Amino acid sequence: MSIGNTVSLPREAAPECSAAAPEAVPVHVAVIMDGNGRWAAARGLPRVAGHRAGAQAVRRTIESAIRHGVQWLTLYAFSSENWRRPAAEVLDLTGLLRHYLRSEIAELTAEGVRLRFIGELERFPTDIQTELARAEVATAGNTRLNLVIALSYGARGEIVAAARRVAEAVRDGRLDLAALTEEGFGALLETAGFPDPDLIVRTSGEQRLSNFLLWQAAYAEFVFLDTLWPDFGEAEFAAALAAFARRERRFGARPG
Ligand code: FPP
Repeated sequence: MSIGNTVSLPREAAPECSAAAPEAVPVHVAVIMDGNGRWAAARGLPRVAGHRAGAQAVRRTIESAIRHGVQWLTLYAFSSENWRRPAAEVLDLTGLLRHYLRSEIAELTAEGVRLRFIGELERFPTDIQTELARAEVATAGNTRLNLVIALSYGARGEIVAAARRVAEAVRDGRLDLAALTEEGFGALLETAGFPDPDLIVRTSGEQRLSNFLLWQAAYAEFVFLDTLWPDFGEAEFAAALAAFARRERRFGARPG
């Protein structure tokens, strides 16, 4: 059964490439990858098997984003709240991340993907922090797709950190508080210099933001899919883009 606002997939196989006009293709797609645990449970497998399958879906999604000409792809891989999961699952997720970084960087570089990470990276073990920094440096010259992976990320924490920086700058006389603008505040967020997401996709039938890109999502379109993240592929990506292309975006202005 389809849930309220979720987007249904077309019966036909998805076309190879987006048929939408170029302006209807979102510049920045952000994805809340949800449902790994339920995917595993449905198969009688441990949760880590769902996360492993989820990592395969990450690979497919990067390929789809490139194929459709999406320029920015942000993936919510680990929230600041995910540290509260059982220690064994956190270890599985960090282990998977370590493995992913070591095995995928060459491939991502070859495909022209530039990697960046946002979140409290300092909470990860130092060897992972080293791999994250290495991946950013190794892919810094790539321009085909900007891939942002949110790790130990929480939007409220990000906003509070930016507010703290404003307060410090005012206290130290480096900022005139009256001169603070939305652009100026946005430049203090971890996503400084990134375009805001045009489209936010969440899988698994859940319809909430879960502390993801709260500031940046101000004018994003939302697409919710029933598909569990490990089953996400080209057909689902194309369906999300097709739903986006049907939306009329007014950014708060009156219809013209
Ligand atoms: C949500 O499913 C998914 C996560 C918390 C982790 C996402 C991780 C991956 C997709 C794999 C690794 C990614 C990279 C970039 C290497 P859930 O566990 O909350 O599922 P549930 O809601 O069904 O329990």
